[in-house]
Amino acid sequence: MAAESKENVLVGVIGGSGLYHLDNLTFVKHVNPETPWGFPSSPITICSLPSGTLVAFLARHGPGHIISPSSVPSRANIAALKSLGVRTILAFSAVGSLREEIPPGDFALPTQIIDRTKGIRPASFFDGLSVVAHAAFGDPFSMGLVRWLEGRVKKALEEEGRGVKLHTDKCIVCMEGPQFSTRAESNMYRMWGGDLINMSVLPEAKLAREAELGYALIATATDYDSWRPHEGAVTAAEVFKVLQANANTSRHVAATILEEMHAAAAEGGILTEEIGSMKFSIMPRS
Ligand code: ADE
Repeated sequence: MAAESKENVLVGVIGGSGLYHLDNLTFVKHVNPETPWGFPSSPITICSLPSGTLVAFLARHGPGHIISPSSVPSRANIAALKSLGVRTILAFSAVGSLREEIPPGDFALPTQIIDRTKGIRPASFFDGLSVVAHAAFGDPFSMGLVRWLEGRVKKALEEEGRGVKLHTDKCIVCMEGPQFSTRAESNMYRMWGGDLINMSVLPEAKLAREAELGYALIATATDYDSWRPHEGAVTAAEVFKVLQANANTSRHVAATILEEMHAAAAEGGILTEEIGSMKFSIMPRS
């Protein structure tokens, strides 16, 4: 069987701004599967862990960050990973912090999402088909996977020794961009209960659910957005300053937990909890 055979590549990693490769793992090959929704953002890198276990890595914004958040081909990305046999996805994303206690440099595992994208991103595999499907999305991340990750990511961060803290049970606002929020919007999101903000978790999380793939996001804070009254509003330059350190820590976390994540996905159970979740989502014709 080929190296990326369905038996072997069970875990997919999606990298966001700053995280364009997992070069601490061994490069095996690039694959670029064409899907009914076109090609993914970038060729997918198949990497090998020290044991020989294979994982798939995809750069969400393409090589060198050429794709804006509104134009990411999320359907092709999710479909391409699934076509390789991936069952569960660990996604990373740079985020703004809406809370004082989450400083730039800290990581978070969100459990809720507020959708502030503007409906311009294709968000369903069922668009244009002759069936209507309503995926359950009350818990937009795979909760078994999120809980499984919490202790392991915390431990990996402690072992790295840079003092990066992991925040849990946070709510992430997903906005359209590419411009950052106004101060008024930033304050409104805080009042709504938002803790973090990014431009990328949707429609990725929705599509992973429709594809019955496990999905969790490690949010890596780069800035305080624009809500702090006596501070400057967020700028791209401020975000860039923190990206490199966050990417190095993300690579460390991935290298530490992927072996066990692959083994858990191979066994089934909590890391493959979404399999069969769409079974009763398609409206029967009367
Ligand atoms: N990504 C990183 N920082 C962000 C912010 N402040 N708003 C939206 N997306 C972001």
